[in-house]
Amino acid sequence: MTTRWADVNAIYQIYPRSFMDSNADGVGDLRGVIEKLDYFKGSPGSLGIDAIWFSPIYSSPMADFGYDVSDYRDIHPLFGTLDDFRDLIKKAHQLHIKVMLDFVPNHSSDEHPWFVESKSSRDNPKRDYYTWADPKADGSLPNNWLSIFGGSAWQWDETSGQYYLHTFLKEQPDLNWENPAVRKEMQDILHFWFELGVDGIRADAVRWMSKDVHMRDDPRNPGFVTGPHADEFGKLIHVHSRFGPKLFDYLREMTDVVEEYPGRIMIFEDYPDDVFTTRDQYLGFYGVNPKVSMPFNFEGIGTPFNAESYRRFITEFQGMLNQEEHMPVYTFGNHDQSRLVSRVGEEQARVVAMMQFALPGLPVIYYGDELGMKDGKIKKSELQDPVELRKPGLGQGRDPERTPMQWDTSQYAGFSTVKPWLPVTSTASTHNAIAERSDDDSYFTLYQQLLGLRRRYRIFREGDYETFGEADKNVYVFSRRFGEEHIFVVLNMSKKSQNFELPHNGRILASAHPARPPRFKADGTLKLKPFDAVIVECSKHQLKEPRIVRL
Ligand code: NOJ
Repeated sequence: MTTRWADVNAIYQIYPRSFMDSNADGVGDLRGVIEKLDYFKGSPGSLGIDAIWFSPIYSSPMADFGYDVSDYRDIHPLFGTLDDFRDLIKKAHQLHIKVMLDFVPNHSSDEHPWFVESKSSRDNPKRDYYTWADPKADGSLPNNWLSIFGGSAWQWDETSGQYYLHTFLKEQPDLNWENPAVRKEMQDILHFWFELGVDGIRADAVRWMSKDVHMRDDPRNPGFVTGPHADEFGKLIHVHSRFGPKLFDYLREMTDVVEEYPGRIMIFEDYPDDVFTTRDQYLGFYGVNPKVSMPFNFEGIGTPFNAESYRRFITEFQGMLNQEEHMPVYTFGNHDQSRLVSRVGEEQARVVAMMQFALPGLPVIYYGDELGMKDGKIKKSELQDPVELRKPGLGQGRDPERTPMQWDTSQYAGFSTVKPWLPVTSTASTHNAIAERSDDDSYFTLYQQLLGLRRRYRIFREGDYETFGEADKNVYVFSRRFGEEHIFVVLNMSKKSQNFELPHNGRILASAHPARPPRFKADGTLKLKPFDAVIVECSKHQLKEPRIVRL
């Protein structure tokens, strides 16, 4: 029996370079993931995960570590072969694990044969696969659009005497989605991967797929403050270079392909943006095709850790969704963001995990967060990320959150037998899979328990969300209801102990410290230590096991 996406307990993001190296070259690979599938499911010590997604594994010159694709239908030899990937899907499916792929529609590599042809001459049939423009009459750039990774978004091409557009690196030219042939190519590629058996797609950087066809300048940002740490990208308000009028139509064309294959989904990568209200932005993306697609919710990544801020953003977001139709995808970390523990703190990260797994929808976790992995310290000589190399000093480099997975206490944390592409972090001796599996109060044990609850009880995935204790500055409480079942989630987000009284007492189902849950006092109050959290089942509305217990 295949699991419905609505029943998936969580998605686990694998950064393939850093998960497991099976062939001793210092870089992770698909065989490594296959060796570790029982980490996810199938053995008593498994974490218990229903789905995994891979950051790009396609052929690529690796200018942006795979987000520069040179063949959308093949696997980079560093990671293995298509047969390895087929084998991985087969074995994952045997364990009832769904497999998702990253898909990069906005840009290809400059080594992709399309671009090689496109730049060969102005009249090449593939010229319009990308966006080319002449300089202005005065010889200046076609417009003021900026690249996120620094400098202008335009790169001069000597051979054909025009500029091409690149929102990211110059090695990542933007595909021209105005061209129906490009759209058809991308749809064919989606067919290819769905035929091969992938269960879902994470669609990268989608906001840039549609741009102003008149290529008007982006207006200046009056709020921009210059200074040594200012990111020049903030100089403009990016209203013309992205979120163009055709964006949702193009996404719809992609989701039409998804819909052809039963049980598949597509999740759009998009961050909150000042140009829109969050409501317009989210509902725009949900409006594309809510049967099979939804945006990530990344608001938690930028929200300060306190009860009021979390309550506000989550309650607003839940309030704008139609529960029957819209699947929330709460995400608190990924390969572009400082690690959860490093952002919010060690104890606070446990509270975020409690919150994330008790919220509705489809949570996404980033590899290693289940071990409480921290950002690594990367020396100048070890830098890998092109962003840090191009914009040094802004602290935007993404190497710290991409360090090798911490499996055990051996020299390279069990990730590899040779020096890995990025150094192992200093916490690997304590925060590793072996040590944490046998520690009944570790992050791993906490995640394992929460994932188990999510799998067993539909209330976690599908119950209604309601806030409780609205004005409390320290404790964020929400409840979930599903038919006759009712749970409370009580999150002490302050550094002081807090007494809390629920309308009913009941059984504590989970605690931020699984080995030392708090207890209800005789008067029905609950004392929560600083940054402690509990999930409580109401005694009058107990949870029922579903009839079918899946693997
Ligand atoms: C977003 C990805 O998450 C990031 O890693 C990448 O550099 C850009 N898109 C460009 O593809």
